[in-house]
Parts: sequence; structure tokens; C-alpha cells
Amino acid sequence: MLVKKSRIGTFDDWVDLFNQWHDDIGYPTELIGKDYHFETKLGDIDSNEIEFGHFAGKSKWERLTDIPDQRIKDSLAHLIEFQGDTEFASVEQQRNLLERAPTQFDLENIIRINREEMRHGWQMSYVLVTYFGEAGKAQAQRLLERRASEKTRLLGSFNEPVLNWLDFFTYTSFIDRDGKYQLNMLSRSAFAPLGRSMLPMLQEEAYHLAQGNIGLMRIVKAGKISPTIIQKYFNKWLSTAFDLFGQDESSTAHWACFKSPYSGRSSKAADSERQIPEKHRRLCGNDLRRRRQIAFPGRLREAPPAGHAFHRR
Ligand SMILES: [Fe+2]
Ligand SMILES: [Fe+2]
Repeated sequence: MLVKKSRIGTFDDWVDLFNQWHDDIGYPTELIGKDYHFETKLGDIDSNEIEFGHFAGKSKWERLTDIPDQRIKDSLAHLIEFQGDTEFASVEQQRNLLERAPTQFDLENIIRINREEMRHGWQMSYVLVTYFGEAGKAQAQRLLERRASEKTRLLGSFNEPVLNWLDFFTYTSFIDRDGKYQLNMLSRSAFAPLGRSMLPMLQEEAYHLAQGNIGLMRIVKAGKISPTIIQKYFNKWLSTAFDLFGQDESSTAHWACFKSPYSGRSSKAADSERQIPEKHRRLCGNDLRRRRQIAFPGRLREAPPAGHAFHRR
């Protein structure tokens, strides 16, 4: 069981917990490599002005005290905690595959993916600890206390076991792809330190998706596993991946996009409020339709197969 510090005071305290988390989940840290150092990475953002919503046109917020509403602070911390939770959970889900890599190439890939997911969790913890006061420190601590194996991670996809390498390739193909959508969304955040965290994470995430796709193509080309079995793995992960998008008419998403990050509504802001959901809905809808076709061939307009469990908490 994780040895808990009663309370973390600094990011260094959090790093101590991070090292204990490795031990607790049994991660062989020697595989991470002596030359690799976990670090916070910040990239450019497209605009220093809030891009849409109620605060469109104003400067992005650099500190917690710049944020004009406690509900916005709470909402941001909530989004960051959920993002961080998925990063550590994925390592817990995949850790058991390290001893069973089919090739050295696959072993090196999964190690790289795991350490980048750890770094993403590190990055989200850094933002929580650095900017969100005592509450943020407690949230960053909890990221290392929940466990996928105990089904206490915050979202359904991240409590499912990853049992084998077909499972892993399907997971990285679809669940990491969902992660890309989330990171893209957060890259536009009105809270600048969160937005700046996204570009390096997105660059690393792209590699994970690619490895998932390459792995699935290798399996299909090898012709050793029947399409029926492969389809079952697609069904397993796509059903939970769709759940990660939330409800179509989500009031939380509406708050996160329009009410919370932005205010001082100009007519430009009001326009953007009307237009962006439709634009995003179209982009997202096209991709979802494509993926649903892969998951449930011939069932594009139907509900998922009976008995399919949906896992959103
Ligand atoms: Fe990640
Ligand atoms: Fe990833």
C-alpha cells in the first residue's frame, strides 16, 4: 500500500509520492532508462487572448487570482484532475504487459508510452500543485492514490483491464485517440498554464496513437487472429471511448466551454457561442460516425449491441 505523506507542501513532496507510486504498482523503473528525466514541459499557445465564450478577447489568465469566479477555478481544477487521473491509470492498466512483450520493438514502445503517460500525469500534477493552492495539492496527491486495479479511477475506460497485446493496441488506437481530443480542447483553455502544457503532451500522444494503429495492422496482416475476435476488442474499447465524450447535451461541457472560461460577452462572443458548438459538433460527429462504423459494422443508426455495458461514472 502506498506510504502516504500526510500532506504535500511542495512539488518536491509530490515527486516523493510519485516515486512511491512506482513501487506500489510494481513498475520496474530501471526500464524507464537512466537518461530519461521526468520534467515539466511548456509549449506555445496560439493566442494570448481568450478565444471564445463569455470572456472572448480578454487576456488569458496566468494565475489563479486572475480568474474572476470561484466556480471557474473549481471547474478548471476538476478538468485537470480528470486528465491527470487518466494518465496514471493507463500505466497501471498496461504495466502487466511488460513481461510479455512479443518483440524488443514492442517492449521499447510500451516503455516509451508508459513514461510519457507518467510525464503527462506529472504535468497535470505540476499545474495543480503550482497554481491551485491547498485544494490542488490534495487533488495531485489523489492522482497517485486511486488505482485502476481497484476500479477507483475516475472514468470507466480507465478501470478496465488491459489483458494482452491485442487489447493494448486497440486501447492505444482508440482510448489514446480520445485523449488527443481532450488535449486539443484543453490547448485552447483560457487558463494559460494549462494551454501551454498541451503542445508537448499532444506531440507525445500522437506517437501512442500511431503505435496502436501499427500494432493492429501487424495483427491483421499476420492473419493469425480471426476478425471476430478483433471485433470483440474493438467493441470493448470503443463502447467506453464513446462514453468519455459524455452526453450530447452536457451542461458541464456547456459550462466549461462558454460560461466558465470566458465572460464579458461582446457580440463577437455571442456569435462564437452560437457557432462553435455546431462547428465542433460537425467535426466530432464525422469522426464518431466513422469510429462507430468500425465498432459496430452495419449498425450505424442502431444502438450498440444489447448487453454492452457503458461505464461512465
Ligand atoms: Fe497521455
Ligand atoms: Fe497516450
